[in-house]
Amino acid sequence: MSRATARNASLAVRTKRIDADTTLKRVISLGILDKSRKVLEKNGFVEIPVKESLPDCEVVLQEEPSYYRETQDLASALDNELPPNALRLLPRGWYILGDIIVVKIHPDLTPYASLIGRALLSIYPRCHAVLRDYGIEGQLREPRREIIAGMCARTVHRENGVLFKLDAQKVMFSAGNLKERMRMSHFGKGEFVVDMFAGIGYFSLQMAVHSRPRRVMAIELNPVAFEYLCQNIVLNRVEEIVEPVLGDCAKMTPEGVADRVVMGMVQVTDKYIQKGIRALRPGGILHYHQTVPSWRFPEAAVEDVIEAAKSQGRKAEILQCIRVKKFSPGVVHAVVDAQIEMDI
Ligand SMILES: C[S@@+](CC[C@H](N)C(=O)[O-])C[C@H]1O[C@@H](n2cnc3c(N)ncnc32)[C@H](O)[C@@H]1O
Repeated sequence: MSRATARNASLAVRTKRIDADTTLKRVISLGILDKSRKVLEKNGFVEIPVKESLPDCEVVLQEEPSYYRETQDLASALDNELPPNALRLLPRGWYILGDIIVVKIHPDLTPYASLIGRALLSIYPRCHAVLRDYGIEGQLREPRREIIAGMCARTVHRENGVLFKLDAQKVMFSAGNLKERMRMSHFGKGEFVVDMFAGIGYFSLQMAVHSRPRRVMAIELNPVAFEYLCQNIVLNRVEEIVEPVLGDCAKMTPEGVADRVVMGMVQVTDKYIQKGIRALRPGGILHYHQTVPSWRFPEAAVEDVIEAAKSQGRKAEILQCIRVKKFSPGVVHAVVDAQIEMDI
């Protein structure tokens, strides 16, 4: 039904406020709720938008219906501007950091990249720039991204009550690690935590804001990410808790003092695991991230932890191993939680 037709037939069930919940449930169970319009309250009565009348209820024609914004998909936003074979290659997904849209675009669509960027901005009017994403590179996890619409890639992203100021062209922020960041927000109360790969504060800030550790030592090697880490500590008012440290965690990680160590890096994390374990006091907890072939999940990640602890004469009690996300075809990003005791 077109919007004009829908407007002409803007039927609503009118009910007393006290009966509104029951009526709404009934309308939903009958499948006649008109989801394009909002439920309205007028003069002490509630108007529930419906697609057809409901016997034994007062049904009115709404004078001023209020509509949800129509969600427009990318293909229709570009309808007349792209050849049909190009439409088939359009991205099906993207993600939003603050007010920046990040999208991967098929190489054959390069001539249309800025058109696609502008179309995305028309779908999300609150956003101000679109970045084409070519992936993350190297030990410092630097993104390769190009602005295809708008001017500036700086933004403040809010997640689970934590503010992350960042330049989406210069520092990474993994959408796929969202659940893990949320999980970490429950850990660390009263503890001394060492975050060996802190980035802009992905895990440190979630813990500091929600669990209030005694102290979080947040170590970061990339000076750009470190600068944002410092700003984010202030932005989230956790200066008393999070101590930013610029440098290589292989050199800066303390020994024998931490209640919890977070190793939020993949691919090379095994090179640092000895340092991570050595940082823990007896009974402390390690969160060891690593990428492993999917057919060796979870054993490969778990073995890294058990072997590294053993080589220090310590025992790793594996609490769990979680699949954080698919990293690449046939490769899983895993995290092992382990309690590291003193003796074997
Ligand atoms: C992959 S990011 C963290 C991503 C995060 N887990 C998330 O949820 O999005 C890892 C960070 O570790 C930093 N890093 C890499 N090697 C390091 C080292 N040896 N010492 C300290 N930081 C390091 C990188 O610069 C990067 O900012």
